[in-house]
Amino acid sequence: MKSKFFMVAAMAAILVGCGEQNSNKLKMITEATFPPYEFLRGQEIVGIDVEICRAVANKLGREFQAETVDFDSVIPAVISGKADLAAAGITVTEDRKKNVDFSIPYVKTGIVVIYKKSNPFKDVKQLKGKKIGVQSGTTSETFVLEQLKQEPERSKSPAEACASLKSGRVEFVIADIDPAKNCVKGEPDLAISDFITSEEYAVAIKKGQSELLKTINETIAELKKSGQLQKWIDQFTKESDALKDK
Ligand code: ARG
Repeated sequence: MKSKFFMVAAMAAILVGCGEQNSNKLKMITEATFPPYEFLRGQEIVGIDVEICRAVANKLGREFQAETVDFDSVIPAVISGKADLAAAGITVTEDRKKNVDFSIPYVKTGIVVIYKKSNPFKDVKQLKGKKIGVQSGTTSETFVLEQLKQEPERSKSPAEACASLKSGRVEFVIADIDPAKNCVKGEPDLAISDFITSEEYAVAIKKGQSELLKTINETIAELKKSGQLQKWIDQFTKESDALKDK
């Protein structure tokens, strides 16, 4: 009886041991339909954001792991502690700042309108009352809700929104410039507008972790200074463009 108890106790100790090892992992949460920041190379999640987070893990001496979920679930995953850091081309917004802490920004960017050349985009006023496709949970969605005061047509990914534009289910799509460029690549009938907003991407973490935030900020500053960040931007833009050619 007694030895059985010890065996169970010993097994429990082994299990706990494994758990501790896992907690040494730095887990990134993302939404991998957003080239060149994150996309799938076969089964593997790759892209600029993945490399930034891997660099943070290396600096901390922790093992690295990335997981993809719907974009609406990315920020909730760091709030609940399911993941350590969120990087998904996430725009810094006042609303999101209430729920998470943001690193220093690593890219200046914005959203654009994707349209058919047969139905040219002129200005934002023209969008009022039109069917507009967006990726769910994004600043493009917020733009339609708050600036145009209407409901958008929500998709799971920028590519899906883009497909709706091609099929005529929506008249315009609003998306971040890089996935928008990817959408119109090799599509002679489609074009993109100038920026309609000005935004910045940063890494998001659960509030109140000043040590982790400091490491992320140092990593981003170094990657910018060394030119490595720009190298990844060039490399993954090339790779995701080439995937579209296939
Ligand atoms: N920058 C936009 C936002 O923060 C869109 C990001 C979408 N990212 C993604 N991985 N799907 O709302």
